[in-house]
Amino acid sequence: MSFTVAIDGPAAAGKGTISRAVAAEFGFAHLDTGLLYRAVARRSLAGEDPVAAAQALTAEDLADEAALRTRAVASEASKVAVLPEVRQALVDFQRAFAARAGGAVLDGRDIGTVICPEAAVKLFVTASAEVRARRRWKELAEAGEEAEFEAILADVKARDERDRSRATAPLLAAADAVEIDTSDLSIDEAVAAAILAVTRKRDA
Ligand code: CDP
Ligand code: CDP
Repeated sequence: MSFTVAIDGPAAAGKGTISRAVAAEFGFAHLDTGLLYRAVARRSLAGEDPVAAAQALTAEDLADEAALRTRAVASEASKVAVLPEVRQALVDFQRAFAARAGGAVLDGRDIGTVICPEAAVKLFVTASAEVRARRRWKELAEAGEEAEFEAILADVKARDERDRSRATAPLLAAADAVEIDTSDLSIDEAVAAAILAVTRKRDA
């Protein structure tokens, strides 16, 4: 039987961290859908047409995660993600993943609203822009991409704005999503809140 957990929210809110922990706790598979858009962006930055890139995407495009986690790729991802044809090319893969037997967690921007509107559990994970930019700044520094905090904050805000204002599948909490604001939560606290929300739905 399939059981889908949809986790949406803005950049660096803690979606991936929570998704991996929920997947491990319940034995579900996990798909970080942001990686799909990042992979299209990487091909686009190399000169390929983004729609053709999205239609031709393979598992190999997702293999080098470090190359997909750069600032340049993140910014380009939010630009190619505005294109309806790019989004459409990625729908079937995401829905098939969500329907797999044994349960699945998908995190992104439009999972609870567009990809899996019937998901068993929907979480909307948020945090203040400053907190999120500080987390991303630290992560990038650890990965060897040093930058000014203010520049990262500006990146995060610009990307959120593009994600929220696009016409197709904007970043938006589903009406039935449980909101988790991680601004003042430790990772353990955020994960515990998510596991509680999933447990309640599973046992309901
Ligand atoms: O997937 P998303 O971009 O929403 O965020 P993430 O990659 O899960 O988290 C971004 C960073 O924030 C990671 O380095 C996490 O360890 C950190 N984090 C945190 O410090 N406190 C939390 N409550 C959640 C995540
Ligand atoms: O890790 P972070 O939260 O910073 O970003 P991500 O989840 O890797 O997503 C990168 C970009 O892809 C986002 O800013 C969105 O523009 C786009 N995206 C999307 O449009 N829909 C999704 N389901 C996932 C990502």
